[in-house]
Amino acid sequence: MPRAALALSCLAILISGCRAPLPDKDSPAAQLYARRCDNCHRPYNPKGLTAAMWDLKVKLMQPKMEKAGMPPLTPDERAAILAYLERYAGTD
Ligand code: HEC
Repeated sequence: MPRAALALSCLAILISGCRAPLPDKDSPAAQLYARRCDNCHRPYNPKGLTAAMWDLKVKLMQPKMEKAGMPPLTPDERAAILAYLERYAGTD
């Protein structure tokens, strides 16, 4: 990619809040993820973490959600969100 285009796309990412669009963002799983995980921070892009890290992070978020008075993820929600994150997870 030419340098100018690269710089422009970086700028676009900055302006949009450092957030690349979520993969397959109109799927039910992506929507569920966006809805359940954007209350305290933007939903992180799945490719930012490996599948193993996602498993850990979702576990770590659970008590935060409860402390904040939010309903915890149901087992179904947790499974759907994790399956989504792991499908698009990064590899290193
Ligand atoms: C109740 C608020 C809250 C909700 C809801 C929440 N998070 Fe978080 N999340 C946090 C806070 C606070 C941090 C800052 C880092 C920390 O304290 O661990 C964070 C950080 C993160 C990080 C970065 C952690 C790191 O070590 O770099 C990831 C990834 C993450 N959250 C994923 C999720 C996912 C996935 C969900 C939905 C299941 C979710 N979060 C829902 C509060 C929340």
